[in-house]
Amino acid sequence: MTAAHPHVPVLLYEVLDNLVLPPAARILDLTLGLGGHAEALLARCDADSRYLGVDRDPEAREAAKARLGSDARLNILAGAYEEVWGEHAFEAWCALQAPHGFDAILMDLGVSTLQLKSPARGFSFRDEGPLDMRMNTEDGPTALQWIEAQTDTTLADAIYQFGEERASRPIARAILRAFQEGRLHTTSDLAEAVHSVLPMTAALRRQHRSDTATRTFQAIRIAVNGELVRLAESLEKAIQHLRPGGRLAVISFHSLEDRIVKQTLRRLSGIYDGPGRESPVPLPKIVRLIHAGGIPPSDAECQSNPPSRSARLRVAERIS
Ligand SMILES: C[S@@+](CC[C@H](N)C(=O)[O-])C[C@H]1O[C@@H](n2cnc3c(N)ncnc32)[C@H](O)[C@@H]1O
Repeated sequence: MTAAHPHVPVLLYEVLDNLVLPPAARILDLTLGLGGHAEALLARCDADSRYLGVDRDPEAREAAKARLGSDARLNILAGAYEEVWGEHAFEAWCALQAPHGFDAILMDLGVSTLQLKSPARGFSFRDEGPLDMRMNTEDGPTALQWIEAQTDTTLADAIYQFGEERASRPIARAILRAFQEGRLHTTSDLAEAVHSVLPMTAALRRQHRSDTATRTFQAIRIAVNGELVRLAESLEKAIQHLRPGGRLAVISFHSLEDRIVKQTLRRLSGIYDGPGRESPVPLPKIVRLIHAGGIPPSDAECQSNPPSRSARLRVAERIS
């Protein structure tokens, strides 16, 4: 964390209240980020505790190392939470340090302040930057390369599916037209293409409405990083790595993410959400839900840290 990138962990007190940290606690943080939650959790742990932090973003790992690297209880691992299971370094750490499973697992989904506020990362339309948007800057196509590979239809579908944007079709056409005419290089160019369809009017600004490009940027970011692709599977894997009585805390930032978290945790708690009254097959009850409706940030947090407004924390405890 630097003065240029102030970072406030979201729902911090709610996470601390809901994760149970026994002596010699074993904690897995699958989205270490800048280590904000990690710092607060480690402050509550004794000297025999161990904390494994995973992040796919090399810059985030460096920032967390600079902040917490001197804490011998912490190990930092490069990787994506959907891929880490079964990887040698991860399994070796678990076998050695957490053979009975974890007491607490945290997933604080989405982008970090560092990513959003660094123009060079290309996540935000507020400052001009290259159209990158990759969380792992060492792998995969940039947002511009991803856009280049789309057709009107596939781009519109992604903007609709991941941004819930009703004007997805004209926006997709405007973006691809800008690309074909050599006018799409930066985040400002992308925002301009969206604004040509949905202008950010003075009236919208006066009403402090979100920028009309927000949903399109969210959609392209989710597509570029494959953010929702294996989330349900990763939640199940995380639960398998909890010891009985251990808890998983997941913070999501938009309704698409939260729906997957909610449905997966409900299913694993034996609740049937499908059509009809009863599940065609009995659902195993592996977890119990703590606060069935999820926990939103307090009014005070929404005021002091506006990006937290859309956050929701869901917590599940492994029972078998
Ligand atoms: C909201 S931030 C976490 C902030 C962190 N809890 C803190 O207090 O500093 C989300 C982090 O998760 C990382 N991330 C997102 N998706 C990931 C994935 N699939 N695997 C691993 N890390 C991921 C991002 O790179 C980012 O650093």
